[in-house]
Amino acid sequence: MKALVTGGAGFIGSHTVDKMLDKGWEVVVLDNLSTGLRANVADGVKFVKMDILDVELLNVFSQERFDCVVHLAAQTSVPYSVDHPDIDCQVNLLGMVNVLEACRKTGVKRVVFASSAAVYGDADCLPIVEEAHLKPGSFYGLTKCTGEKYLALYSQIHQLDYVVLRYANVYGERQGDGGEGGVVSIFTRKLHQNQPICIFGDGGQTRDFIYVGDVAEANCQALMAHTRVNRVYNISSQTQTSVNDLIAILAAVADKPIDRSYLPPREGDIYHSTLSNRAALAGIGWQPYMPLPEGLRRTYHALNKAM
Ligand SMILES: NC(=O)c1ccc[n+]([C@@H]2O[C@H](COP(=O)([O-])OP(=O)(O)OC[C@H]3O[C@@H](n4cnc5c(N)ncnc54)[C@H](O)[C@@H]3O)[C@@H](O)[C@H]2O)c1
Repeated sequence: MKALVTGGAGFIGSHTVDKMLDKGWEVVVLDNLSTGLRANVADGVKFVKMDILDVELLNVFSQERFDCVVHLAAQTSVPYSVDHPDIDCQVNLLGMVNVLEACRKTGVKRVVFASSAAVYGDADCLPIVEEAHLKPGSFYGLTKCTGEKYLALYSQIHQLDYVVLRYANVYGERQGDGGEGGVVSIFTRKLHQNQPICIFGDGGQTRDFIYVGDVAEANCQALMAHTRVNRVYNISSQTQTSVNDLIAILAAVADKPIDRSYLPPREGDIYHSTLSNRAALAGIGWQPYMPLPEGLRRTYHALNKAM
């Protein structure tokens, strides 16, 4: 199996590449290094420094003849999308269409697309199931939602197989402090530097934290699944963890007290969030394995080693 990982020098992408190498697959990474790091890409993996919007993309696909693509390259910041909807749209939609056109023209068999819990917006019922009404509250959520629709139509018109994975809040080693789900990354950095942590609101707000190794495995399983493709799956822990509980676990992991201050809640922030992961188990045989305390321990100690 020969796979392309767009955004493979990033956080989730580099873990996905590592998993693929463990499985003995041939992998190529394409990334413009806007947020990713060349050093994240394992030795020996072919690396193409290119923007997904580049017209040369088709030449790369024609030369390499990929069997499948995991499409992760994106503008990943929710606040940035609100301030710059044009750039968000350019990268997350025009860039994605450029990737899909190259797939269709060169006979790629399957695309796995990194979507997000941001497509749901403020949901009425928890845990959120895939069939829930989509009401994104940001342009980022809207471009992810529209990207999913492009895939569905590419599959209908051009018979390109796809699997959409809507990730919850991903955390783990190598995470930057921008983009989505960066709260663990921000908190571990502050903790490492012995700086106080600022919490927006009362800290009772919950999120669904999923370890990056589990997400990387989901990407691989979605590529391998024989049935139940051309569908959408949530990739989550299906567990609500409050920000206060997260801080308590981090304090135990770091074995030091955490100085914290509470600020007024941010406008538009969702209070409770968790995604059902039952469909992913039934559809692509995926379930999460990493317990949050162990995942946080690995994240914190990896940061300590790197700094
Ligand atoms: N981290 C999360 O919690 C989370 C949650 C839901 C969805 N996602 C999605 O997962 C994917 C990966 O996110 P991540 O957290 O690893 O972010 P990341 O920023 O670490 O990775 C994105 C990668 O894409 C590259 N990239 C960005 N724009 C590009 C372009 N125009 N051309 C080529 N490469 C480009 C970056 O250099 C980077 O290496 C994204 O699609 C993101 O929207 C992430």
